[in-house]
Amino acid sequence: MTSSDPHHVSHIAIIMDGNGRWAKERGLPRAEGHRAGAESIREVTEACIELGVKYLTLYAFSSENWNRPQSEVDALMKLLDRFLDDKASELDKQKIRLQAIGDLDKLPAATRKRLDRIQEQTKNHQTMTLVLALSYGAREEITAAVRSIAKAAIAGEISPEEIDTKLIAQHLYTKDIPDPDLLIRTSGEMRVSNFLLWQISYSEIVIVKKMWPDFRQGDLFAAVEEYNKRHRRFGAL
Ligand code: FPP
Repeated sequence: MTSSDPHHVSHIAIIMDGNGRWAKERGLPRAEGHRAGAESIREVTEACIELGVKYLTLYAFSSENWNRPQSEVDALMKLLDRFLDDKASELDKQKIRLQAIGDLDKLPAATRKRLDRIQEQTKNHQTMTLVLALSYGAREEITAAVRSIAKAAIAGEISPEEIDTKLIAQHLYTKDIPDPDLLIRTSGEMRVSNFLLWQISYSEIVIVKKMWPDFRQGDLFAAVEEYNKRHRRFGAL
């Protein structure tokens, strides 16, 4: 498959589920599952580069995750800080652009600062864009878009008749990112969980039984193979 193929996977989005259960199965604290999950991120990023995938969007922290016990929220933020510190030079070296989407103002100031710095540092990189969904919820994203469009309408900058799907898409966090071709969820759960509700309208969904910390490059290749199979079937019609 080459990128001139119209069915080439150029954007993969992943709901990284099952860190807690992975840890529990091993009698480890949940934070250990998240730590192991961070390693899967490295694997999958490498695999995406190999496949020529241009966007990888990871659901790293949802709006609902703020309701977890404070100790787990703290552990996830600490892990995120460490991830950003560890990855900054690697991302830069591999020419990967980092982009964060979500209600980023809710993040701790120090985390926000790291994100801003790495996003600025990598903004012109073109190997691939790694999109981290942080403090992200699709309903919240759509709500913010509606609010901003209403403000523009009241200010007389747009008329209600001008509101179409394109305009709405331009008000989402993902305004500069194409829609995902493939959505993967691990741990066998069959839910979308408030992730990219608008953007996945036409995405293929692949559910993988493995817990996220066990997800390896081969699992990503298998999911892409499944995506390709579905499209080959369409091609045969
Ligand atoms: C789902 O597992 C995963 C998360 C809530 C967070 C994802 C975070 C990482 C993969 C590692 C951290 C990396 C960064 C960049 C922050 P779960 O806890 O919902 O698992 P469970 O459903 O088994 O309880």
